[in-house]
Amino acid sequence: MFFISILLQLSLSAVLASWSVSYKPHSICVFENSSVDFTCSFNYPNFHTLKTTKWFKPKKYQKQDGSQEGIFVYHSKAAEIDQLYKDRTVYANRDKNCSLQLHNVSKSDIGKYFFRLETNYLNGKYTGSVGINLDVAVLPFRVTVTSPNVNGHICEGESVKLRCSTENCTPQEGPFAWYKNQLLLPQANENVLQISSVSHNDFGNYSCGRKNSNTTSADEILLDVRYSPKNVEITILTSGKMEQGNSLTLICKSNANPAVTNYTWFKTRDANISSIGFDCEFSIKAASQKDDGQYFCTAKNDMGSQNSTIITLKVEVPSNRHFLLTATAGLFFVIAVLLVLFGLIIRRKQITPKKLHTEQTPAVIVTEDIYENLRQSPESEERHTNLIYADLKLPSSNSERPLSKTQEGDAVIYSLLSYKE
Ligand SMILES: *[C@@H]1O[C@H](CO)[C@@H](O)[C@H](O)[C@H]1NC(C)=O
Ligand SMILES: *[C@@H]1O[C@H](CO)[C@@H](O)[C@H](O)[C@H]1NC(C)=O
Ligand SMILES: *[C@@H]1O[C@H](CO)[C@@H](O)[C@H](O)[C@H]1NC(C)=O
Ligand SMILES: *[C@@H]1O[C@H](CO)[C@@H](O)[C@H](O)[C@H]1NC(C)=O
Ligand SMILES: *[C@@H]1O[C@H](CO)[C@@H](O)[C@H](O)[C@H]1NC(C)=O
Repeated sequence: MFFISILLQLSLSAVLASWSVSYKPHSICVFENSSVDFTCSFNYPNFHTLKTTKWFKPKKYQKQDGSQEGIFVYHSKAAEIDQLYKDRTVYANRDKNCSLQLHNVSKSDIGKYFFRLETNYLNGKYTGSVGINLDVAVLPFRVTVTSPNVNGHICEGESVKLRCSTENCTPQEGPFAWYKNQLLLPQANENVLQISSVSHNDFGNYSCGRKNSNTTSADEILLDVRYSPKNVEITILTSGKMEQGNSLTLICKSNANPAVTNYTWFKTRDANISSIGFDCEFSIKAASQKDDGQYFCTAKNDMGSQNSTIITLKVEVPSNRHFLLTATAGLFFVIAVLLVLFGLIIRRKQITPKKLHTEQTPAVIVTEDIYENLRQSPESEERHTNLIYADLKLPSSNSERPLSKTQEGDAVIYSLLSYKE
């Protein structure tokens, strides 16, 4: 009983372990000049003896289902191997292992590959029908963008996929390299670069390639992220210092995509906000203290708007003009003081009687002459004033006498006259 059971099992397994070839993978894409592994295993009835193993590639015009053999990539009779594949293939050549390694892959290797085995039996021939499809990635790379937005615009917060591929296929083997504006993105090693939530910082030109090689995509692709204005700030241009009379230009700068369409300038003074301009620049031809205040601008595009930081303008009165004004005022003051002092000195000299007596000037002589002339005639007592006027005569002045002395002389005359009254 036991033996019968064993015999049955053996014959069953022999029947079950019939003809088969399995390939892995069924389709593969590799880079030019690289190597590729066709993983393969096969089976055949135990009582057969294996005679021939071969890998073949149907020619372009032949059937691609394995029914036509084409050229031999590998053959257990080495002479059968096609010239194109000689010295480029390594066959596993172990029990029921038909794996094949192909080196230095080129574009001409693109096609279908089949394994076939033949035994000592006449009908002992079998080809694994599925075969392996080999594709060769021909550089350059190109970048394609997949985004949920149909119009091609990418907005902040959206998710995008950048795919690095070649014209016909993209090998899974890496590592890949991604570049943004020609700078390597060190964390990206896959052939797909996924950005789950796009920000304005992701705007830029992208290219890809293989790490540690100089093969990069032929052209860059612009990730055109649309965003509202950011970093809105004011730059001040002046024709010198921020001084009275100088020209001032305020420039509203920002980062926005698409470009800013509307600018608005605001001025705040004494808690009063007013809009003062609608250009990217706001100019003041000749600054004055009227322009003092706080300024800010608003930049707007299709995506939104943002206010700038507030700047404070304080127009200075130039310091050198200050100095001139002070100096002039000071000079005037000094002159005024001098004039007053001079006047006082003169007055003092006029009032001092001592000087009259001490100085024996010709003025004294003059008074004597006047005395004589003023002598009244007895008959005209009532008309004495007339007489005084008529007879008042000064002697011809001596040219040697200084002017001040003449003045002193006059003063004497008048005082004497009043004294006489
Ligand atoms: C078949 O041979 C290849 C190459 O020698 C090897 O890498 C692979 O592991 C083998 N497969 C099996 C199932 O033994
Ligand atoms: C790879 O193949 C190309 C032709 O397809 C040849 O020019 C080159 O020398 C080969 N490289 C190696 C390392 O065999
Ligand atoms: C992207 O590339 C285009 C074309 O070469 C260039 O005009 C543009 O300035 C680039 N943009 C950036 C952000 O580098
Ligand atoms: C923005 O500018 C455009 C054209 O200059 C104008 O038609 C539009 O009314 C402006 N929008 C606002 C909100 O000021
Ligand atoms: C605010 O400024 C505007 C424009 O300069 C002016 O017309 C208005 O009278 C000001 N209001 C107050 C309360 O100062």
